[in-house]
Amino acid sequence: MAKIIAGMGTSHVPGVGAAMDNGKTDEAYWKELFAGFAPLRDWHKQNVPDVNIIVYNDHATYYSLDSYSTFTIGVAEEFQPADEGWGPRKVPVVKGHPELAWHLVEQLMAEEFDMSVAGSLDVDHGLTVPLSIAYDQPQEWPTAVVPLCVNVIQHPLPTALRCYKLGQAIGRAVASFPEDISVGIWGTGGLSHQLGGERAGVINAEFDTAFLDNLVSDPEANSRLSHTDFIREAGCEGVEMIMWNVMRGALNKQVKEIYRLYHIPVSATAYGAIILENT
Ligand code: DHB
Ligand code: FE
Repeated sequence: MAKIIAGMGTSHVPGVGAAMDNGKTDEAYWKELFAGFAPLRDWHKQNVPDVNIIVYNDHATYYSLDSYSTFTIGVAEEFQPADEGWGPRKVPVVKGHPELAWHLVEQLMAEEFDMSVAGSLDVDHGLTVPLSIAYDQPQEWPTAVVPLCVNVIQHPLPTALRCYKLGQAIGRAVASFPEDISVGIWGTGGLSHQLGGERAGVINAEFDTAFLDNLVSDPEANSRLSHTDFIREAGCEGVEMIMWNVMRGALNKQVKEIYRLYHIPVSATAYGAIILENT
C-alpha cells in the first residue's frame, strides 16, 4: 500500500527561481532566505519519497482567463517547464507518475470530486519553484510528480473547506493505491501577498502566523476561512493559501512540525514554508 510520509507548504515566488537560475543567491537580498532553506533541503535530502503530489496553481499559463478548471490532475509521463514570457526555466523536465495519477482521478471522481484530466500540462513557477526550493539544482528531480492544479485565479474559486476535503479524499486514495510506494504532498503559494491594485504589497504576519499555527494543530479553523477573509487579511493573491489546505487534509489528524520558515518580504510576498510529518 502507498503511504504519505509528510507534507510541505511553501510559497512559490518566481524571483526565488530566477535568483537560482541566474546565480544570485549569494547577493545580500537573497542570502538570508537561502540560509533558511538549508535545514529544509537537508530534510528533503533525507526524506525522498517515490512520488510528490504537488498541489499548485497555474498562473494563466496552461489555462487562460477564458477557461479555468477547478481541479486538474496531470496524468502524463512528463511535464515540461512552461515558457512564462522569458523562455522556459532551465530546470529538469518533471517526470510524472501516470499510475498514481489515474488512481487519484478514479478515486476522487468516485468521491464526487469532478477532476479535469490533463494529458499534457506545461508547469509554471507554481510547481517548478517549490521543486527548486526543496531539491536545489540537480541534473534530474529525485522524485516523480503528480501535478494537481487548483484554480485560485479566476472566480468562482473552490472554497477553503472544499480544498481541505479534497486533501482528505487524496489521503484515502493514496492509502488504497496497491503499490508499496512512499508519497509526499506539497501545498504551494501564499502566504500574504497582493501583486496589483491599491493594496499591492500588503503583508500580514499576524494572519500568516495564525494560519501556520492552525495548519499544525487546528486545520479545520483554516478551512472555515472565506475567500473574502483571505483577500481582506492576506491580499488578493493570499487566497493561494487555500492550496495548503489540500496538503494538510491529506495528512493525519496529528502531525509533527519539523521545520518552519517565515521571511518578509520576498519580492511582494511573505515567504513561508513548513514541513509536517505524519505521526
Ligand atoms: C509573486 C508571488 C507569486 O505567488 C506569484 O505567483 C507571482 C509573483 C511575487 O511576490 O513576486
Ligand atoms: Fe502565485
